[in-house]
Amino acid sequence: MKPINVGLLGIGTVGGGTFNVLLRNESEITRRAGRPIRISKVADKNLELARQVTQGRAVITDDATSVVTDPDIDIVVELIGGCGIARELVLAAINNGKHVVTANKALLATHGNEIFAAAQKKGVMVAFEAAVAGGIPIIKALREGLTANRIQWIAGIINGTTNFILSEMRDKGLPFATVLADAQRLGYAEADPTFDIEGVDAAHKLTIMAAIAFGIPMQFDKVHVEGIARLDAIDIKYAEQLGYRIKLLGITKRVSRNGADGIELRVHPTLIPSRRLIANVEGAMNAVLVQGDAVGATLYYGKGAGAEPTASAVIADLVDVTRMHTADPEHRVPHLAFQPDALMDTPILPMAEVETRYYLRLSVSDQPGVLADITRILADQHISIDAMIQREPGEGEEQTDIIMLTHLSREKHVDAAILLIEALPVVKSRVTRLRLEELDK
Ligand code: NDP
Ligand code: HSE
Repeated sequence: MKPINVGLLGIGTVGGGTFNVLLRNESEITRRAGRPIRISKVADKNLELARQVTQGRAVITDDATSVVTDPDIDIVVELIGGCGIARELVLAAINNGKHVVTANKALLATHGNEIFAAAQKKGVMVAFEAAVAGGIPIIKALREGLTANRIQWIAGIINGTTNFILSEMRDKGLPFATVLADAQRLGYAEADPTFDIEGVDAAHKLTIMAAIAFGIPMQFDKVHVEGIARLDAIDIKYAEQLGYRIKLLGITKRVSRNGADGIELRVHPTLIPSRRLIANVEGAMNAVLVQGDAVGATLYYGKGAGAEPTASAVIADLVDVTRMHTADPEHRVPHLAFQPDALMDTPILPMAEVETRYYLRLSVSDQPGVLADITRILADQHISIDAMIQREPGEGEEQTDIIMLTHLSREKHVDAAILLIEALPVVKSRVTRLRLEELDK
């Protein structure tokens, strides 16, 4: 059987893993795909690296354009990363009638609408399983496995670096900077780790999942993004005492208010009950919880990064494209799960309109009447308290911490209450505000 020819752009961590797994499992993959999948050409700036990995089994070049214009190449795999040259190469490949497989979440979250429109016009596929949660087949699950459902919400630990940092801070009491250095050494972090710790990488992945779950365009610019850099170890400890763990979650929800739908799209540190399975996802592992109206809650767990776990997803896409490339484009699964002319312009809700529960930590003077002042402000803003702890002041200490968990409240009311509380003379520092999700319905 004639092999399908693949051109690989970038043979770094994921590209190298893809080359090796494809070679190691060649016969198994061929039996599944129906014909051999052969990486016949590799482009990388680092020719020495390309030589070492390919060992003479593919033509190598440092000119990526020569791959996307090569008439013998059927599928281009883009594993360079970023939104510069990668965008140009992907669009050039599509314009040359090539199918594309990519793991590049930044590219799809920011330029996906342009890329999918170009692919639609040319009748080619752009497959991107590896772009979200590495080896976990979450794109397949959302696009195909759950297709009967009206998806209600998704909450995911979709960045391994930050989950690793939070786990190590909680378990070993290590400071943030030390654990971040470990995450970089272990190869979990992006080239620029601020993408991980500021929540940007998770926001890219959330943008892609929300588009597929709700049938909306990619809207990365509308994601509310807060990372973990300002998270204090003391809050991890207090959360634990209250029966919660703090995770960096990407959350997207469909909400109906006054007969109109809106979509929440947010990444932030979140308290979740310790008894939930997802609260126990530790280290660099990823997990995505999806709530559909028919199926209920489903949970997907596995390695969200690394050479071979990510290669597993890249190769799954290669097999799909190999099976489907001769099919009429009408018979393929649409890129964003919904037919392109059926995408909706459901508005993304501003953060001020989001309704959730809150964790508030206040540092106050240890004197009578303080609590009454604070609870009055909260009540005036329609915020009711579900649980509270007050730390006993230490010997000679004049200040103490009050920690409150609220019932469901509107973000704008919490913002207003915090401003008023911080203006009280008895309140000695900024109020720490974290969001809390029960994740039960
Ligand atoms: P790497 O940096 O390890 O590999 C990228 C390779 O592309 C490098 O060898 C780089 O060379 C090369 N390259 C850069 N520019 C060009 C160019 N113009 N032409 C040819 N080659 C070029 O990245 P990763 O493998 O880690 O990531 C690849 C993609 O996969 C990214 O989009 C990333 O976000 C995504 N991803 C990564 C995961 C992971 O675990 N690493 C998990 C999921 C997705 P040089 O180093 O010399 O610049
Ligand atoms: N830096 C990313 C993470 C790599 O930590 O999850 C996988 O996308």
